[in-house]
Amino acid sequence: MARVIIFGSMNMDLSIECDRMPQAGETLSGHDFITNPGGKGANQAVAASRLGASVGMIAAVGADGFGNELVATLEAVGVDCTKVTRSSETSTGVAIIVRSAGDNRIVLSAGANHLLSSEDVMRALHAIAEPGDVFLTQGECDAEATLAGLHEAHSMGLYTILNPAPARPMPDEAWADVDLVCLNETECELMCGICPTDEEGCLKAASRLQELGVRSVVITLGSEGSIGFEAAGDKPVRAIARKVEVVDTTAAGDTYIGALAAGHAAGMSLVESMAWGSAASALTVGKLGAQQAIPTAAEVEATGWKCCS
Ligand code: RIB
Repeated sequence: MARVIIFGSMNMDLSIECDRMPQAGETLSGHDFITNPGGKGANQAVAASRLGASVGMIAAVGADGFGNELVATLEAVGVDCTKVTRSSETSTGVAIIVRSAGDNRIVLSAGANHLLSSEDVMRALHAIAEPGDVFLTQGECDAEATLAGLHEAHSMGLYTILNPAPARPMPDEAWADVDLVCLNETECELMCGICPTDEEGCLKAASRLQELGVRSVVITLGSEGSIGFEAAGDKPVRAIARKVEVVDTTAAGDTYIGALAAGHAAGMSLVESMAWGSAASALTVGKLGAQQAIPTAAEVEATGWKCCS
């Protein structure tokens, strides 16, 4: 079976709940503080691996306690970390997360996440990836290295998935290296200038991205579920969001994207992997934390999820 190769961030999340978000200059008392392995790349790796994919991680952490814990957590769920660099030049990435009423605000210290160069990523890809594998990347690592990874993976015959989170402008020609882009409304507006508020807006945004060269587009709409456009001109497919009690939304999007990657590697159709991702992320929001909240394939199966379009 195809593997999922992820070039992405690894952060230690320092996360605290507040009764409301603090104002500028204000100090608030929080509660339920947790230190928890996170980072969009590593969260997506945990999700894909727990959902049954064979996963290889390309990343960098500092030679420090947080870095050791992050690598150990990935290895414990079966992710191949032979291409995770440990560097004494800089510290491990950290995310400060303030949670309130099921929502969150995140401030990042990139640290070692910006350490790998284009050459490092290309070298790692040649060492662990095969044509037909899935390559998944996001927006928390060095921008040039991320684009180089997409380009190299695409040239090597991998199926490339981009999750532009956080979103940052990208040269038009880079879209041709993207087989599937998965983004939310705000990321969509930044990446293509169209904020999709309804199905027509989603169609316009997807058409714009497809004109730029990307093949398939999935737009996530929070409680409204997600909408997918497999190829330019195709009828859109939809996955509904399950109604659940929200404990913490951290890593819900990462769980969904991990499912898209694992689903593609397992031969699922786009709409099947979208529905699987919805079921998985509904379980993630019901638990506190990032990686510790991501479900296994068996837990998702137990929900009785079904594919819909
Ligand atoms: O998507 C959630 C993740 O974003 C957190 O785990 C945090 O590390 C930030 O990267």
